[in-house]
Amino acid sequence: MKIYQTKNYDDLSRVAANLIGAQIIQKPDSVLGLATGSSPIGTYRRLVEGYNNGDLDFSQIRTVNLDEYRGLPRENDQSYYYFMHENLFNHVNIKESHLPDGTNPDSDAECKRYEAVINSMGGIDLQLLGLGHNGHIGFNEPADNFPKYTHCVDLQESTIEANKRFFESIDDVPRQAYTMGIGTIMNAKRIVIIVSGEDKAEIVNKAFFGPVTPQVPASILQFHPDVCLVADAAALSKSPL
Ligand code: GLP
Repeated sequence: MKIYQTKNYDDLSRVAANLIGAQIIQKPDSVLGLATGSSPIGTYRRLVEGYNNGDLDFSQIRTVNLDEYRGLPRENDQSYYYFMHENLFNHVNIKESHLPDGTNPDSDAECKRYEAVINSMGGIDLQLLGLGHNGHIGFNEPADNFPKYTHCVDLQESTIEANKRFFESIDDVPRQAYTMGIGTIMNAKRIVIIVSGEDKAEIVNKAFFGPVTPQVPASILQFHPDVCLVADAAALSKSPL
């Protein structure tokens, strides 16, 4: 694992966007796996800048997102579909983008469909990840095993609590989500995980310097051959560097 320690969130966003930008330049028809949450917002802003100033061309880039709330229609401003369009897709010349369909009532069919979409693209060249406070990646919550494929999850209370800031009330936060599995994520050729802030310092230490366990889903990344952890000093403040 390569660790890039940055001064702050701004710097982290610059480094992450440079790593993704390098991928786009080296392989203009890359399949990018993308994430939502507050962590990647600055990275997406930098990628949009790169497009606007002519450094980056997304015309052959295809994307697949990690996850989507179950039950939220695309036009809901808290859906990840909406988030991705607001923060990236509406501002660059992306060729093709995919997310799980939160409105498909048949969850088994939706999971199979999404996994097949990823496979039909030849897999993911670079997967961007954030890190949940309980160690989740995508919406793979702490569990007794590492789920292999795209599946439907019941969100943990702590995740519902953490995400309620985006909704009018906690009752509006969806209780379920579709997410790529740990196996889907581990099949990506390269992984860039971004983590910012002191509130993540404890979980960064556990995930990247502790034992590999499904109770800390991100810890499996220690076994991936090409991971870049891009974290600011605050997020790394409890890690043995
Ligand atoms: C959310 C998302 C994850 C994200 C994580 C961290 O629940 N499903 O993909 O990485 O939580 O979010 P944030 O970056 O806002 O801390």
